Amino acid sequence: MSETYMDVQASYGRCMRQKGFITRFYELLLEKDERIARMFEGTNWSQQNKALRRGISIALTYAGGSDIVERPMNEMADVHSRKGRAPVDPVLYKHWRESLLEAVREFDPRLTPELEKQWATALKKTTDHFTEHY
Ligand code: HEM
Repeated sequence: MSETYMDVQASYGRCMRQKGFITRFYELLLEKDERIARMFEGTNWSQQNKALRRGISIALTYAGGSDIVERPMNEMADVHSRKGRAPVDPVLYKHWRESLLEAVREFDPRLTPELEKQWATALKKTTDHFTEHY
């Protein structure tokens, strides 16, 4: 298994090269729990899609153990903490991970079971970090 998640980064690249990946992710996420749907009621989607694209890149870099993203990771964790602008109950993070994996399954034509496991591990590292900061 590659520690820097290069294969996951490449898989993310394949997903992003196709139209509609992030939109599909949010469609899946919003139907998981009505608390989640409610949080996004006033959202500017073109801005949010951009924020998430960046967020996933940061998450994958963080999972690879790079500390160059420590600051943006902490800023994202702050936004989603109890006192943040968009507090997220940590029980909801499983939906975030699952929705992203479902979207990857739909969009990456070269996804393998091994790669999917690496994705899951990488995303868990990020949501665990957010949970610790909650
Ligand atoms: C169930 C999990 C999550 C929910 C319900 C959620 C919800 C939200 C909401 C409601 C916003 C504000 C949107 C607005 O401005 O209207 C937001 C912003 C954001 N979220 Fe999440 N989020 C979740 C998980 C994550 C994760 C795991 C990441 C990291 C990759 C992330 C990255 C971001 C970023 C980068 C922003 C933009 C922050 C900013 O505007 O400064 N979110 N999220």
